[in-house]
Amino acid sequence: MRFAKLALSKTAPAKQAVAIVAILGIAAFGVTAFAQQQPATPPVEQPAPVPATPAPEAGAPATTVAPDGTVAPVEPAPVAAPVPVPVADHGAAASDHAGDEEHASGGHHELTPKGGWKHDGAFGTFDVNAMQRGFKVYKAVCSSCHGMKLLSFRNLGDVGAPFYDPRYPNPNDNPVVKKLASEFMVTKEDPDSGAMVAMPAIPADAFPSPYANATAAAVANGGAVPPDLSVIVKARNGGAGYLYSLLQGYVPPPQGLVVTPGQNYNAYFHGDTASQWIGKDPRNKPPGGFLAMAPPLQEFDIRLQRDCVEGAQGGASCDPNTFDDGKPTTIEQQAHDVAVFLAWASDPRTEARKQLGTAVIPFLFLLAILTFLSYRRIWRNVEH
Ligand code: HEC
Repeated sequence: MRFAKLALSKTAPAKQAVAIVAILGIAAFGVTAFAQQQPATPPVEQPAPVPATPAPEAGAPATTVAPDGTVAPVEPAPVAAPVPVPVADHGAAASDHAGDEEHASGGHHELTPKGGWKHDGAFGTFDVNAMQRGFKVYKAVCSSCHGMKLLSFRNLGDVGAPFYDPRYPNPNDNPVVKKLASEFMVTKEDPDSGAMVAMPAIPADAFPSPYANATAAAVANGGAVPPDLSVIVKARNGGAGYLYSLLQGYVPPPQGLVVTPGQNYNAYFHGDTASQWIGKDPRNKPPGGFLAMAPPLQEFDIRLQRDCVEGAQGGASCDPNTFDDGKPTTIEQQAHDVAVFLAWASDPRTEARKQLGTAVIPFLFLLAILTFLSYRRIWRNVEH
């Protein structure tokens, strides 16, 4: 405060004030302009050409098409290499921390992708390519069991969304969004007959749920209802990191753990293994829990293959084990991408909100300075 007084009590405070305000104004303008430039970045990648019929041909490895049209993995997907096998580091640690929160939830430290999450932090933005790949994973794999009823297809074309295109401020006009919507079937009232019929979705429709109701969903999934994924990243402690870990956490159950049919052991599931642990010391129970969802991801899933037909993507040099942008379709990559996509889906306004904050904070700062200077000026000749 004394410094401010010294600086401002010189002979020409008004001039100084103008100079300070001008500098701050320029700075604020710069920051705001930078912030506004962000949404104008068009999707770097051509829209992922999602195959119209996600079901693979007969004989395709490791998937079955159920009578109701859902595609389910037959064998557990190969376990991702980087997953630390639980219990290995667990024995001593378990007795030290028995009963603490991490333990009670059965989890251990979640995995973080190399380089962290791009959307973290005050200025973080969603990785557009990752979101587009994640959408493809959701569509090809997860959507056969999980709906996303709080999200509409047009949201895919909003500012900060996976398929935003500045040429189409109204996402309902975005041809990519229209095409992607039309690849999902929704049950709607037929305007002519009044009957409920299945028809291709339009951008205004919400993502459909694959089952008519919770009972039908439970019957098809051994009694467990696959939760709606619209806000799953907000609904789970750990958010995108939890999802990323869960999808890679299907490790072989450690010795001493009884797994009943229909259960799948997952080292990161927020569950409890105590009742099925027959090891000597109850404090050594493995982390994680059991869930009804079988490992959904498969390494180099045929349904995610990029379209290599007729040399359209570079012919012989096109590797089918990659996404459309060339990223390999490993389990780790799929888990990362679908987690980013679902993080966006849980909070589609993240970027708009961060940009507004970037503009508002410098403005408030400027306002505070102006207010302080006015106060100095008004009280200049008053004894106080
Ligand atoms: C074959 C059907 C099926 C597929 C495919 C499937 N899930 Fe699931 N999922 C389930 C079921 C059933 C549950 C409920 C498990 C339970 O509560 O025991 C579930 C639960 C979940 C949960 C909640 C876990 C928790 O903490 O409660 C998440 C998250 C999830 N699935 C994500 C995904 C993602 C992401 C995909 C796509 C990569 C996917 N699922 C694919 C059937 C499926």
